[in-house]
Amino acid sequence: MPSLELQSDRDRVLDATDLVALVGEHVALKPKGREHVGLCPFHDDRSPSLTIFHKAGASWYKCFACGATGNAFDFLLNFHKMTFPEALRFLAARAGMELTQRFERQHHEGGIGKQDLIEANRLALKFYRRMLADETEGAVARGVIESRGISPAMAESFQLGYAPDRRDGIEQALARAAAHVRSTGAKGARSGEKSGPPSIETFVAAGVVRDGYSGRSDFLRHRLVFPICDNLGNPIAFGGRKLRDEDEPKYLNSPESPLFYKSKSLYGIHLASQSIIKSKVAIVTEGYTDVIACHQAGFTNVVATLGTALTRDHAKLLQQRCETVILLFDGDAAGMRAADRGVEVFFAEKIDVKVCTLPGGRDPDDLLRTPDGVTAFRAALDSAIDALAYLVRRFQSEYGAKTGVSGKHQSLEALFRKLAELGFGSLPVVRRTLVLASLASITGLAERQLEAAVAAI
Ligand code: UTP
Ligand code: MN
Repeated sequence: MPSLELQSDRDRVLDATDLVALVGEHVALKPKGREHVGLCPFHDDRSPSLTIFHKAGASWYKCFACGATGNAFDFLLNFHKMTFPEALRFLAARAGMELTQRFERQHHEGGIGKQDLIEANRLALKFYRRMLADETEGAVARGVIESRGISPAMAESFQLGYAPDRRDGIEQALARAAAHVRSTGAKGARSGEKSGPPSIETFVAAGVVRDGYSGRSDFLRHRLVFPICDNLGNPIAFGGRKLRDEDEPKYLNSPESPLFYKSKSLYGIHLASQSIIKSKVAIVTEGYTDVIACHQAGFTNVVATLGTALTRDHAKLLQQRCETVILLFDGDAAGMRAADRGVEVFFAEKIDVKVCTLPGGRDPDDLLRTPDGVTAFRAALDSAIDALAYLVRRFQSEYGAKTGVSGKHQSLEALFRKLAELGFGSLPVVRRTLVLASLASITGLAERQLEAAVAAI
């Protein structure tokens, strides 16, 4: 049962929220009479079916095609899969409002919550940013940013930082923040900060500080820092690139935490989201620097997985925003493995998956830095192949040497064994029919023949 205060938090936040502005950050809206309309993000909308109404002090959205309807909270719960407390905090922060103490107490429950972990990451990010800007401390990292051709604008929007070569950088930054709170007397409601900086244990839980054998030490040391954010732009983890040859590994990522699951996170999603929605396409690369290079070259619908292949969770996240995912790879072997995963994901989620390999085994970052790189990059994107077709072609070329009916049969059998391995067997009927139709058009075989081949497996 929501308490009175909670109820009023909800109402105050709703009153302060401009629904047109909120929805407009996710979907392109156009004024139409007294309303606003746009493509509904909750179903596969072709004509603008989503309408935003405002009447008698209340705002709500309604889709005339799929029936989705609700207020700002419903929108966030459905679009971002936020929980109610998350949505409440999000809208309050957006409107510059404070929530009542009771809400914060109720949702704190003593332990370290997600919000605390975000707070710790935020403080760490501030520290890394300050170190990068520091005349002497940040010199090496700034040099690397410059020599890699990352523009100051990109370094700013991706919030790059520098983790100094120190064990206690974060602890010192924390002590500083605590001292600041004490000296300004900022505690509690008045300042908008809850109760000073998070505890050192929170930094350990966030993975920013390592608590090991020989005591506590900063997780990232002497590394260029790439903050990893959730789709709302909250820092949830960090990637650090080495700046010295002898350091290993090349990239070090924060360990997983209740905030950060690699299989659900996409680097750059907060900066790419709008562009993905508008273009209906998401481009997925492998590296941090690839994302930055792409954005810098004007390809803003680009994100990266974090050292894993595309997962179903990634696909779900993207499927809310677009229809097509292009997996971008810098080598043919990698491309083949990616195609497998792409087909698997295509089977499981309502999204088209394409595979694109870049010429010369180059990654996007390298390619975009060559003369005519942008043209070559665009050409490669245009020639991206449907993951299923890519897979089928591979089988066709492997078995292509075999002529005659039995050779072809073998090839088809092998293909279907592969497809079964990737989850074809458990496809819902609708999806299965779609895949068969698509296979028929790729292979030139009749759907009936394909059905027979499937049945034989
Ligand atoms: P690459 O080694 O291809 O990195 O790894 P890159 O982006 O081209 O790096 P630069 O250009 O040498 O700086 C691709 C991605 O794989 C992950 C990182 O996300 C990286 O961006 N990776 C790689 C790791 O997580 N750890 C590693 O040790 C190496
Ligand atoms: Mn690279």
